[in-house]
Amino acid sequence: MTILYNDRFVDRENIQVDIEDRGYQFGDGIYEVIRVYGGNLFCLEPHLKRFARSAKEIGIDLPYTPERLGERILELVKKNNLTDGTVYLQVSRGSAPRSHPFPANSHPVTIGYTVSAPRPLEALQKGIKTILTEDIRWLRCDIKSLNLLGAVLAKQKAVEAGCQEVIQHRDGMVTEGSATNVFLVKDGTLFTHPADNLILHGITRQVVLELANELGIPVREEAADVDDLFHADEVFVTGTTTEVSPVVAIDGKPVAKGVPGTITRKLQQAFEAYIG
Ligand code: PDD
Repeated sequence: MTILYNDRFVDRENIQVDIEDRGYQFGDGIYEVIRVYGGNLFCLEPHLKRFARSAKEIGIDLPYTPERLGERILELVKKNNLTDGTVYLQVSRGSAPRSHPFPANSHPVTIGYTVSAPRPLEALQKGIKTILTEDIRWLRCDIKSLNLLGAVLAKQKAVEAGCQEVIQHRDGMVTEGSATNVFLVKDGTLFTHPADNLILHGITRQVVLELANELGIPVREEAADVDDLFHADEVFVTGTTTEVSPVVAIDGKPVAKGVPGTITRKLQQAFEAYIG
């Protein structure tokens, strides 16, 4: 498999991560996951923009422009003959003797690789089960940081409960999933947490908000509380690998009738048309 390593293409076997890479030791870096449908990168531009923003927010100076990076990713997809799957992209602050503050002269280390993966058709059709869990993450969830321990622990809890995702809440207000944004429908209106510091500003979330507008579905970017969630007519989650997945159960209780709702289905159809 060919990997993008800084600005070069290298075989995976020829790459080594240094023991003092700050991504490895501190989670000091940021990442993106970009979907590939039929060999085409989906929403490449907003992903590159968010990558650059995350890097800037943690003071990593990228030694390339988003355009250059975009070209390299396109080449990577071609080199690996990827049809359906994802591109994983990350940049760490680089390697330096272990010490918390930014090192004086480290160089960012960028890697990108492709993963072949089908669309999550079963989840899209049948929906997913979730559990509610307290959001114990930091207060800059808008940065797509490599520090994913909060998400890892949350997702593990879901798996142990026989579920596919968590719905996190902070002091009773619903934030997002472990790797998804959360939406609920009540009386025909779509609710989702505002794009502030408590959630990742999901690219799928943004696409869904635009599609909802086009379909004339009223949208309110307002945090719902846990009680609203349990009384919702429909709940769904969105994400690069999840697309628009209906939530059919939370903590073992069915969402409404326990089957995907009509507005969720409408948005799924619109999303399907959008990805082409
Ligand atoms: N996760 N919220 C969180 C915390 C996420 O990690 C993600 C994406 C999303 C959805 O964002 P988007 O629609 O831009 O993919 C929301 C990726 C897929 C991951 O970590 O694998």
